[in-house]
Amino acid sequence: MSFVFICTMQLAGPIGVFDSGYGGLTVYRELVEILPEYDFIYLGDNARVPYGTRSYETVYKYTWQCTQQLFAQNCNLVILACNTASAKALRSIQQHNLPEIQALKRVLGVIRPTAEVIGSITGNNHVGVFATEGTVKSESYRMEIGRFSPEIKVTQEACPMWVPLIEGGYASSTWADYFVRENIDNLLKNDPEIDSIILGCTHYPLLEEKIRSFLPNEINLVSQGGIVANSLKDYMQRHPEIDALCAKNGHRKFFTTDDPAWFNEKAKQFLDLNIESKHIDLS
Ligand code: DGL
Repeated sequence: MSFVFICTMQLAGPIGVFDSGYGGLTVYRELVEILPEYDFIYLGDNARVPYGTRSYETVYKYTWQCTQQLFAQNCNLVILACNTASAKALRSIQQHNLPEIQALKRVLGVIRPTAEVIGSITGNNHVGVFATEGTVKSESYRMEIGRFSPEIKVTQEACPMWVPLIEGGYASSTWADYFVRENIDNLLKNDPEIDSIILGCTHYPLLEEKIRSFLPNEINLVSQGGIVANSLKDYMQRHPEIDALCAKNGHRKFFTTDDPAWFNEKAKQFLDLNIESKHIDLS
């Protein structure tokens, strides 16, 4: 009788950070600040942004395609730095796709970490969420916040114009003023007692100054970048087997499905990040 032992060694690789466009860079920025020693690859699906107005099937298909692309680049851990993808694709990927893979791969989103901490930020349990139409309709925020803090009343407002304004370079324009004011008014009309508002789309911190200028001072505006980065740091401590599969040489790479020159310029203009991205074709 002969025994054959097959031994597969899984190599450590970069952490993949994915978003429909460059909004996820607001999360990436905090990740590298809090976890500087790790390697990161960022992928922005700029050619197909926005995801927020697309169907469940389309968001799932695009997100899984991008996740596989990051796996192919040796990532063992992928962060969906996109609320819409976290709301519409994460569960399917975790429950159906990952169990079929022969290696230890993990995909995490941005909604759960935000839902976990919001109870410690609100003082009166009235929380607002600005998000894409897709995220709002999925009810993910209401469900996740309800899991950790059922006493919180969650009021949501879809802001379908915000991502196109940001991606199009109109974040500082007077058109942006109009839409930002309108969405703030709608949200506060629906619950005038709101004391904390989650920016439930990773693009929205790029409008933060404008939103802040139209919002009563006493309302907290909650961005996700720092929350997600701290949550990942904690995750690494609780999951040493995943941490061991994340390379730590401080390397960074950036990919976009659209024009790299345009992507680099936006990153510089809005986030003060000097990056050299490369084009990647997913079609
Ligand atoms: N940045 C994304 C989010 O957090 C998606 C924006 C979009 O593509 O519509 O929801």
